[in-house]
Order: sequence, then structure tokens, then C-alpha cells
Amino acid sequence: MSSFIRSGLLQLLLLGFFVVMAFFGFFQSCTVEHKRSLIRRWSPPTGLFIPPSTCFCINDSYILDNSIPSDQLAEILERRGKEYKKHQARTSSILNALLFAPSNSPLQYPIQGFTVRPMVPTLIPGLALHTQKRSSYKVLLNVTRGILSLGTPRDEDVVNGSRKNLIILETDSLAEMNKLLAKVTYTSTVYHIHTGDLVHFMCEVHQAVFPIVIRQPTLPVLFDIGTAISDQVTVTTKTFMRYKELKLLIRSLRQHYKDMTLIVADDTHEPEKIIEENVLHYIMPGGQGWFAGRTLAVSQVTTKYFLWVDDDFLFTEKTKIEDLVEVMEATPVLDVVGGSVDGNQFYFSINYDEGDGVTGGCLEKKSNRRFHSVPNFPQCHLVSGVVNFFLARTDAVNRVRFDPKLKRVGHPEFFMDGLGQLMVATCSHVSISHQPRMMKPEYKIFRHPTSEEQDSKKRLYHYKNYLKCIRFG
Ligand SMILES: *[C@@H]1O[C@H](CO)[C@@H](O)[C@H](O)[C@H]1NC(C)=O
Ligand SMILES: *[C@@H]1O[C@H](CO)[C@@H](O)[C@H](O)[C@H]1NC(C)=O
Ligand SMILES: *[C@@H]1O[C@H](CO)[C@@H](O)[C@H](O)[C@H]1NC(C)=O
Repeated sequence: MSSFIRSGLLQLLLLGFFVVMAFFGFFQSCTVEHKRSLIRRWSPPTGLFIPPSTCFCINDSYILDNSIPSDQLAEILERRGKEYKKHQARTSSILNALLFAPSNSPLQYPIQGFTVRPMVPTLIPGLALHTQKRSSYKVLLNVTRGILSLGTPRDEDVVNGSRKNLIILETDSLAEMNKLLAKVTYTSTVYHIHTGDLVHFMCEVHQAVFPIVIRQPTLPVLFDIGTAISDQVTVTTKTFMRYKELKLLIRSLRQHYKDMTLIVADDTHEPEKIIEENVLHYIMPGGQGWFAGRTLAVSQVTTKYFLWVDDDFLFTEKTKIEDLVEVMEATPVLDVVGGSVDGNQFYFSINYDEGDGVTGGCLEKKSNRRFHSVPNFPQCHLVSGVVNFFLARTDAVNRVRFDPKLKRVGHPEFFMDGLGQLMVATCSHVSISHQPRMMKPEYKIFRHPTSEEQDSKKRLYHYKNYLKCIRFG
């Protein structure tokens, strides 16, 4: 009871204090003749921003520096570091800066969504000052990559640029000030297709910083989806010395999809001719490899989607391509949807920590780990990667591409390169069959990666993916 009275008294005292302070204009001292003694310099709260730290290599990780001959390590690390810095310069921008909104501020400004086209004058929406009546008002705005003006800037100002990066507005009426603020225009003076600028907006002791996104809009590139499934999907495969299997695959495809185009990339050293309707046979230099063949096949697809199959798969009545297309069409954010092979659904998730940007990142692949289900498709779950039997958006996969440096087996590498770029799901309701295994001995020699190839893969993880350690679980 007594503590209640005490806290009630305290509230009353505090209230009185606030009323007095408000009367003297303490909280909105946005006037020209403010009292020096009341100036509180605003600085961002500390302790909230955690600088990037080196990542932790979990148990049994492979330490990738060990894949580099020790006499070359120093030189490679230096070259890799320089390349990574350029990568960062390409991919990061001022828009990644952490900004804080000040409390008790009379400044109103847009915090998100203000986007301009490069070098096109654009009104800054939502600028305003909310303060009590004063004898005069003064605000200041500055930018770094463009110019500020009231209304449309003169052409020579845009060309000559930088000197007009500061604007000072001073009036003796608040309504007039807000009319002026509503006319402030930003024009970027540096041509860049995707970058940003920061506006400092100040009124005496109050200061706010807000971002402007500078972006050249992109043109949509749409596919005509047609009416038939064969207008929507192309089947793609890669073969190497397995014509018998390939013929079985083609026969099974034709039983279910009479005129769907099949693209075959073939790097057999002594290729045979495949003459079948709606089969496009691309002969490559011998032994170019698994990923080179995938990339070649996918580069030739003209439909919105392609279905990846191995040359020794068999289409069955459960290989309902329409069902995978249905998932993709209902969920336009998806890029890749995997199915199951002989009832086995292979998928994995990837844990990637970029680390401190100096020693390299840490990556862990976890088999059979998935995220939540795809909305309205309880049979499908989001994952980081799938293997060998999937329907994919042609445009999305071409942007990531299968690295031709990977010659033989290489499943997760494509999804590592595409992490954060591809939305991947796995579905249990569509499956394909595998032909009984009857590997020819000469094929076996090529199929299994040599230890030299394993080493070159590790060097790729180390250099290309800027990784410190990797673990395949
Ligand atoms: C890491 O290894 C240690 C010792 O082998 C073991 O006790 C621990 O459980 C492992 N931790 C993880 C996350 O696997
Ligand atoms: C804009 O104003 C802020 C705050 O006064 C200052 O730190 C910054 O250097 C100014 N930037 C430019 C480009 O004048
Ligand atoms: C740039 O400004 C100068 C004066 O400072 C002016 O003489 C010149 O014409 C301007 N340039 C252009 C392209 O307008």
C-alpha cells in the first residue's frame, strides 16, 4: 500500500517536471535562438551494434588452408583477400549502414521505400517539422552523392553537381517551413544502377539520417507459358558413355510425355548419334565434365522451367511433371523444386557464417534438414539444396550456373554458389525411378573423383567461396 502511494507521488513529481520542461521548450528546442546550455548532442546508442567476428569451425570441419601447398599459401591468401575486397565493394553499399532513429525528435522523414532512378530529380516525400511556435525556424539537409534543390534543379547544377549537396531553409513561419520541405528534391549526380545515399536532416540539436535507394529499374523478362506442359518444361540431362541407359530414359519419357523437348549434353569421347524426335543432342569436347554439361544443357532451354534428370533415370506414372509445375506456379518465389528418386528424397540445409571478412567463412551442410512446409503444399518443404531430380526456373538457374570447374560428382556445390539467391523446396509427391545399376567398368573409372579432384574441389571452396572451413554432415 505504502509503496503504491510512493510511486503515485513519484509519478506526480515527474509529471510536474515534464510540464515545466515542455513549457521552456526543452523537448523541442528547434528554434534559432536555442539556449546553448540545453544542447544535447545526439549520438547513436552504443552496445547494440556487434561488429562481425570470426566464425567458429564446428567439430570435424575440414580446415581448408590445409588443402593448399604450404609454399603457395601466403601468396594465395593475399590474392584471394584482394579479390574478396573487390567482391565486397561490388555487393555492399551505404544502404547496409546501421541507422538509429532519434527519440523525441520534431523531424519527420521517410525511413524506408524512398527510391529514385539515377540522375532523375525526385521529390523527397514526407519531410516535415513538428514543433511549437517559435520566432524563426531553420533546418539543414545534406547528401553526398547528389544535389538538393527546391523544385526541379537546373541542368547545370546537376552536371556541376557536388556544390549543391547542402540546403539550408530558414523562415519565421512553421507552415512556410513545411511548404518548403514539401518541395525538396533529390537528384543523384553519379550514375550507378544500384546504390544509395544518406540524407542528414538537422534542426539545431536534432539530427536524423535516412536512406535514399538509387536504382535503375530492371525490365521484366517474362516467359510465355503457353497452354501445354511441353510449352512450359524442357527435360535436360547430361550423358557420358551411357547410350543404353539414355535410350531407356528417352523411351520412358515418351510413354508419358510424347512431345516434350529433351536436351542432351554429351561429352563422350567417341559419341554416337542420337536421332529422335524432339531430342536436341549437344556434343561437347570429350570429358568436359558433369557441371559443364549441365550448364550447356540449361543454357539452351527456352521454356520457363526445365526438369533435371540423370541419364539413367526412368519416367513412371508417378513422374507427374505437372504437379511440380503446380507447386512452382502457386509459389512464384520458388526457384527449384526437387522430387524423390525411387522413393528417396535427398535434401539438405546449409549453415553459412560469413565470419569477419578477413579469415574466411564457415560452412556446414546438414543432410535431411529442412525448414517449414511450402504454403498450401504440406508435401513440400523449404531446404537449401536437393539432388539430381528437380524442376527449376530457367532464368534463376542460369544466373547461378553449374561451375564447369567441377568435373565429376558435385551435388551441393551448385546450391552453395546459389545460397541466398535460390529458393529451394523438396516435395514427396512426385518421383522418378532409377534404372537398375549396371555400371560398365570403363565408366566407373571416370565416375569416381580422384583424390586430385577432391583436392581441387577443396581449393575451390577455399578460394572461390572464401571459406575457412567446411563440414559435410
Ligand atoms: C564435438 O566433439 C566433442 C569431443 O569429440 C564432443 O564431446 C562434442 O559433443 C562435439 N560437439 C558437437 C556439436 O558435435
Ligand atoms: C552532413 O552533415 C553531417 C552532420 O553535420 C556531417 O557530419 C557530414 O559531414 C555532412 N556531409 C556533407 C557531405 O556535407
Ligand atoms: C558549371 O558551373 C560553372 C560556374 O561555376 C559554369 O560556368 C558552367 O557553365 C557550369 N557547367 C555547366 C555544364 O553548366
